[in-house]
Amino acid sequence: MLDLIIKNGTVVTPWSSFKADIAVKDSVIEAVGAASLFGRAKREIDAEGMYVLPGIIDPHTHFESPFMGCKGALDFYSGSIAGAFGGVTTFIDFTNSRAGHSVMASIRERREEMSKSCIDYGVHAKFVEAERPVLDEIKSIVEYGCPSFKMFMTYKKEGVMIDDEGMLSVMAEAKKWGGLPGVHAENNAIAESNVEKFIEEGRLEWEYFAKSKPNLCEMEAVQRVVLYARYTGCPLYIFHLSTAEGLSVIKQAQSEGVKVFTETCPHYLTLTREKYKQKDGHLYVMSPPLRGEQDLEAMWRGLGDGSISIIGSDDCTYSIEEKEMFLERDAEGNVKQDFTKIANGVQGIEARLMLLLEEGVNKGRITLNKLCEITSYNPAKTFGLYPQKGIIQKGSDADLVIIDPDKVREISHETLHHKVNYSIYDGRSVKGWPVVTIHRGRVIVENGEFLGSRGDGRFMKRKIRL
Ligand code: URP
Ligand code: ZN
Ligand code: ZN
Repeated sequence: MLDLIIKNGTVVTPWSSFKADIAVKDSVIEAVGAASLFGRAKREIDAEGMYVLPGIIDPHTHFESPFMGCKGALDFYSGSIAGAFGGVTTFIDFTNSRAGHSVMASIRERREEMSKSCIDYGVHAKFVEAERPVLDEIKSIVEYGCPSFKMFMTYKKEGVMIDDEGMLSVMAEAKKWGGLPGVHAENNAIAESNVEKFIEEGRLEWEYFAKSKPNLCEMEAVQRVVLYARYTGCPLYIFHLSTAEGLSVIKQAQSEGVKVFTETCPHYLTLTREKYKQKDGHLYVMSPPLRGEQDLEAMWRGLGDGSISIIGSDDCTYSIEEKEMFLERDAEGNVKQDFTKIANGVQGIEARLMLLLEEGVNKGRITLNKLCEITSYNPAKTFGLYPQKGIIQKGSDADLVIIDPDKVREISHETLHHKVNYSIYDGRSVKGWPVVTIHRGRVIVENGEFLGSRGDGRFMKRKIRL
C-alpha cells in the first residue's frame, strides 16, 4: 500500500512540465506516471490545475544567530515553519564560529540547535580566521558532511572578517578535500572608511547606509576573491550578489572556465534603494544594501542566462524592536535616523516563492522551469544534496510543493509566519501561492495549517561534486 498519491497535477522539472501522478511510499517517490498503474494509497491529493515542484531548498538562512547585538526573531523551529509555508523543505544555515574556537565544535553546537527544525537542514561552516588548528579541521569538516563554507570579507569591527591570507589558505585547503568556499563579498576598507566619513559629516540618514557600500564595494571584493579562485583552482560561491558590476566580473570569470557560482536574494529582485528614503528605511537595512533598478533587472537577466544559478533568502529576521534597539528617540518618540546602529538583515524564507512567481514567472522574466532550477535543482546540485533532493523522480525524497497558480493573495505580516509585526513585502499582491508542502512524504502544510512536527527535520550530510 502506498502512503500517498498526488493526482492530476502538472509536474515541473528544470526541463519540462507535464501532467503526471506521483506515488509516495516510505518517505520517497515511488513512481511518477499514471495513477491507474500505481495501486492503492492511504491518501490521495487532487492537484488538478496545480503545479507540483520539488521542495524548495534555501541555502542561506540565519536562525538563532546573534549578530550586531541582536538575537533575531526566529529560532530553528519557528524559522522552519515559516519556510514550510513558503514551500521550503530543506535549508542550510551557518555555524556561529568564533576566532580561536574549533569550527568542528561549532558545527556540533549548531546541529544541536537545529535539531528542533521540522524540515531538513544542513550546515555551512563559517571561517572567521585560518590559524593552523582550524585549517587542519577542513578535511574532517568536509568528510563530516559540511563541505560548504562562508567567509566575510567585511565586518572587521564586528570581529568576523577573515583577512586575505586566511581566505586564500581556506580556499587552498578546500580545494584539496572537496570543499566549496563561499564569501560575503564587500570591500571592508571602502565600507568602514565611508562609515567613519559619514559619522564625521553627520550624515546618518538611512540612505547613507547604501552610500557607504556603493556598487564598487561589492565589485572589488568579487574581483579579488574570483582571482583567488582562479589562482587556487578552488570552486567558489558568492553569497547574496546584488550588483550588475559584480555580476559582470562573475560572467567574465565563468566564460574563462573559473568555477564560480552565485546566488541572489528575493530582496535584490524586488526592492530598490528608494526604500532608504522612507521613514521606515531601517527595516530594509541588510548587507549588501538594496541597489538601483538597473541592478535589479541585471539580477533577473543573470537568472535567465544562468550566470546566477541559485536563490537564497538570506533570511535574518529582526523585530522592529530589535531593529530600533540602539537608536535614540526624539521628544515625540520617533527614532532618530542613524544607519550605523541597525542590525543588518531582513526576512525572506516564506515569501520568496510567491515573490518569484509574481515578479519572475507572471512578469515573463523567468519560466516556471527556471524557477524550479534556481530554487531546488541547482541548490541541490551545488551543495551536494542531489539526487536525494532537488528533483521529482523515483527514489528521491518525497519533498514537494503544490502551487495554485490562480490563487491571488496579498502578502501581509498578519498571515506570514515570521513572528514579527511587519513585512518588507506588506501589501504586495501576488498570483500563485503554495497550498500544500510535503516533507519526506508527510503533508506539513495544508489549508493554511501547519501539520508538521518539531524535530522531524534531519541533518543532511552533504558531499559536493562540482
Ligand atoms: O544583512 C545581512 N545579509 N545579514 C545576514 C548576515 C549576512 O551577511 O549574510
Ligand atoms: Zn553575508
Ligand atoms: Zn546571510
